Amino acid sequence: MLTLCIESSCDETAAAVIRDGRNILSNIVASQVDVHARYGGVVPELASRKHVEAVSVVINAALEEAGVSLSEIEGIGVTRGPGLIGALLVGISTAKAMAWALDIPLVAVHHMEGHILAPFLEDPPEFPFLALAVSGGHTHLYRVDGIGHYRIIGQTLDDAAGEAYDKVAKLLGLGYPGGALIDKLAGQGRPDAIVFPRPMLHRPNFDFSFSGIKTAALQYVEKVDKEIDDQHRADIAASFQEAMVEVLTLKTLRAATQEGLERIVVAGGVACNSGLRRRFQELAGKQGGRIYFPSPSLCGDNAAMLGVPANYYLEHGQHADTKLNAISSWPLDMVGVI
Ligand code: KG4
Ligand code: ZN
Repeated sequence: MLTLCIESSCDETAAAVIRDGRNILSNIVASQVDVHARYGGVVPELASRKHVEAVSVVINAALEEAGVSLSEIEGIGVTRGPGLIGALLVGISTAKAMAWALDIPLVAVHHMEGHILAPFLEDPPEFPFLALAVSGGHTHLYRVDGIGHYRIIGQTLDDAAGEAYDKVAKLLGLGYPGGALIDKLAGQGRPDAIVFPRPMLHRPNFDFSFSGIKTAALQYVEKVDKEIDDQHRADIAASFQEAMVEVLTLKTLRAATQEGLERIVVAGGVACNSGLRRRFQELAGKQGGRIYFPSPSLCGDNAAMLGVPANYYLEHGQHADTKLNAISSWPLDMVGVI
């Protein structure tokens, strides 16, 4: 089955052609980063306008790269939410119009479902597994018993991990989005230079809180501002990253033990983080579990990741119709309910 997938939940307009929910024939992403960088974050209205400009270009590019014509596409998968309503509506309206015009089925996919199923495009894990979804809007631990069967084990009570990265990067004057920039700078700094807090690390639950680390970084920078040179900035980045990586890895591994799960998927934009990837591999090796990280191109927002659930829902006849609407806030365990 050839599926066209469309993603427009935030600041990337993306389209992909996937065969049988497994093989990526194309995966095109048009990023709006340059548009939003000057504002230090995503401006929703600008995002919607840019999606309108890019969506057909990106779809045509995906079809061309895949070497397939529109008439060969057998189903369309689109992100329904969560995300920015105006942004989501661009992808949804396009997908509905195409499905109607081509007379093929349409399916709605949860953005985080795409992220955590991305490993199935490369090195499929067996069910059940634990998924840590870490992105600009999410830091969630899910127990995944199958496609469509997700249970929330823990989640952030305030900032998402990516959001904390972006805010600390801004504070250090590194630019937006800041996660990758902090990650790079951290390589030149000492992770033990400053001891930032590890919020909720020792609580007996699997929730996270990152606003405390971010505030500690802010207070530290305000205190030493005039003395900050490049080495000091790298030390702050490395120490911040150390705190984030420690909390994320230890809580995730503890959750896996409690749930009796040996396989862990780490997905979402923050899963590109080199420190996080390294530490997870080290610790999981010791614990005897296996970690699945998608390739970096499948960690950040993309449409290929929708191919796995889209194919499944198409095969199971869980089709959407022309009444399909965007949904900004949609817990993953409500997939199939709303
Ligand atoms: O999944 P994603 O592309 O979009 C959302 O669904 O939010 O994640 C974007 C987030 C941003 O906050 C970005 O700073 C962060 O992922 N990110 C990183 C790295 N690369 C991207 N955070 C830490 N280290 C990285 N290497
Ligand atoms: Zn995402």
